[in-house]
Amino acid sequence: MSLDAQIDTLRTEITAAVAAASDQTQIEAVRVGALGKKGSVSALLATLGKMQPEERKSAGAAINGLKTEMAGLIEARAAELARAALDARLAAERVDVTLPVGTPPTAEGRIHPVSQVMDEITAIFSDMGFSIAEGPEIETDWYNFTALNFPEGHPAREMHDTFFMAPSADGVKRVLRTHTSPVQVRSMLKTNEKPAAPYLTPAVEPPIRVVCPGRTYRHDSDQTHTPMFHQVEGLVIDKTSHIGQLRWVLEEFFKAFFEIDDVTLRFRPSFFPFTEPSMEVDVQCDRSGPDVKIGQGSDWLEVLGCGMVHPNVLRNCGLDPDVYQGFAWGIGIDRLAMLKYGMNDLRAFFDADKRWLDHYGFRPLDLPTLFGGLSS
Ligand code: DAH
Repeated sequence: MSLDAQIDTLRTEITAAVAAASDQTQIEAVRVGALGKKGSVSALLATLGKMQPEERKSAGAAINGLKTEMAGLIEARAAELARAALDARLAAERVDVTLPVGTPPTAEGRIHPVSQVMDEITAIFSDMGFSIAEGPEIETDWYNFTALNFPEGHPAREMHDTFFMAPSADGVKRVLRTHTSPVQVRSMLKTNEKPAAPYLTPAVEPPIRVVCPGRTYRHDSDQTHTPMFHQVEGLVIDKTSHIGQLRWVLEEFFKAFFEIDDVTLRFRPSFFPFTEPSMEVDVQCDRSGPDVKIGQGSDWLEVLGCGMVHPNVLRNCGLDPDVYQGFAWGIGIDRLAMLKYGMNDLRAFFDADKRWLDHYGFRPLDLPTLFGGLSS
């Protein structure tokens, strides 16, 4: 067959194959079959080597002409098929951006009212210059009672319905802490050791201003008592701390917490081993409607215990009561949550019922701050 005839045949064959290629793999196969190392056009080019120089000149031009022509043809078809493939993918993978967005966990989850109220309380006291302190829930008898001036065998120990831990190998008596007051002791003492004798133990240098929120335990269960509950303890120690300051701190706290402009507190004499004098505090409220309204009306509701820290407690913590004095208070957090957010059964707090939490819980990203609002 003459060279021209061979070129014509190849042109016809390759052009037909290009037209028949219907995807990117097929057109690539056509390219390799024609222009690849072992391709039909390449094979024809290889025959140039055996030709006479004169013949080679014209034949070379003709074959290379075919090569360029076929390469252009293949390239154009490949581009066309690539575009078609992209269009097909875009059509298949289309996303409808007008569909509603699914619910993210931050919108579904809820913060428990106890956590919310703890955050509110710590926000308020931090703003007044208090630091936050925490202590262990399994506490030694010494921290929970003895250091707080509950003498051994004193009936006040029985008031607490204590959960006692089984005796441990180290001989140290332990309890589930019945109140957050042991964190007072831990905040005054620099060491974790039980002091050997008063003043021999290094104490934290006053002024001390701490609030101590946390879990507490007592053997008790009814509508307003659960075996595990929460308290926040407050402690201020300095050379001249006095009851007037205690009163101011508590009034400011209740106004901020209940988000009201004014509130009247009533201080009644009481007894706690760790304070002298000791007081219970009632907050003014209105109970005529279905909800208790704090800061209005002429009723009273007991909300906390407080007093001037007993000299024995200061001594037990290595502080000289002739130099330092201070005040302390303890508030039930669950009680405050019930009052502020209108829940009437404490047991529901710990049922882990999602419907309850959906109703009473708080959005996780709405952190309580004094400037942004505590509960909004
Ligand atoms: N710890 C007491 C209780 O749980 C509450 C309390 C009363 C704490 C008076 C205090 C305080 O710090 O001064 O019943």
